[in-house]
Amino acid sequence: MRTEAYAKVNLTLEVFTKRVDGYHALRSVVMPVSLSDTLEISPGADGTITSDTGYADDLCVKAARVLREAADPRAAEGGCRISVTKRIPAGGGLGGGSADAAAVLLALNRLWQVGLPLAELAQLGAAVGSDVPALVLAQGGRGPVLMEGRGEIVSPLPCAAEKPIWLVLANPGVFSSTPEVFRASVPRVTDEPSILYNMRIALESGDPTAVAAALQNDLEAPACSLHPEIVTAKAALREAGAAGCLMSGSGSTVFGVVPTEAAGREIAASLSARGLTAWVAHTIVR
Ligand code: C5P
Repeated sequence: MRTEAYAKVNLTLEVFTKRVDGYHALRSVVMPVSLSDTLEISPGADGTITSDTGYADDLCVKAARVLREAADPRAAEGGCRISVTKRIPAGGGLGGGSADAAAVLLALNRLWQVGLPLAELAQLGAAVGSDVPALVLAQGGRGPVLMEGRGEIVSPLPCAAEKPIWLVLANPGVFSSTPEVFRASVPRVTDEPSILYNMRIALESGDPTAVAAALQNDLEAPACSLHPEIVTAKAALREAGAAGCLMSGSGSTVFGVVPTEAAGREIAASLSARGLTAWVAHTIVR
């Protein structure tokens, strides 16, 4: 079975209290985008679960194990071989590893005939990683997701279905460590409901200019102070003509809104000429 694992950008990301379990309470609008890894998943002999990513802490294998434990005894004997063609950079704030894990949960839920509803599959994802529940819902339901708690509370967000938004993504080639960026962040002391409200109405209208105006990421400042390359990448993206440029997740990728695919291609080409890895992508909407 072949499946695409879509990357995400965080259109908003607000960081609140540091919790007693070490995680941060957050609120984020997670948007799936067309940049993807391709996964080839086939049944494995004698119940073994393997993947060819080569990562020590492989989220694909972890996801398969978590699903197998949750499945009924028939499916519990299932094994699988997972082969990943990587395009989403690691440590890039685009949820690459989590997107792969989410795609594994969705695919094995069918392959092993586990039959869990999407919401339950998303809940299982929390045992794999904080971004996984949102990516299960974003990929399975094809659209933006509101993520709260440490990431385990997720719900689909309404969005103008007929209007995907074009983006340019630019990666400065530095690995940004999520725990390090969270440690350097300063949690909000007051809630500003307008941040989520403005993004909600921007998505409902499907107006790219409104989305660009409503972007917010509390992890951008701490990530930029750790990695000045992100500041340079963001400036280059803005100079090249993208609107509302912002870092995604805990970095290091930045993204900006562009009016058309053609405009995006021109901007991406000029960024590549400046040594950045750039992609043109569109939002995945129902
Ligand atoms: O859940 P995950 O393994 O993806 O989280 C990686 C790290 O990111 C955590 O160990 C923690 O340091 C940080 N994190 C956080 N608050 C969150 C999510 C992640 O502090 N809500």
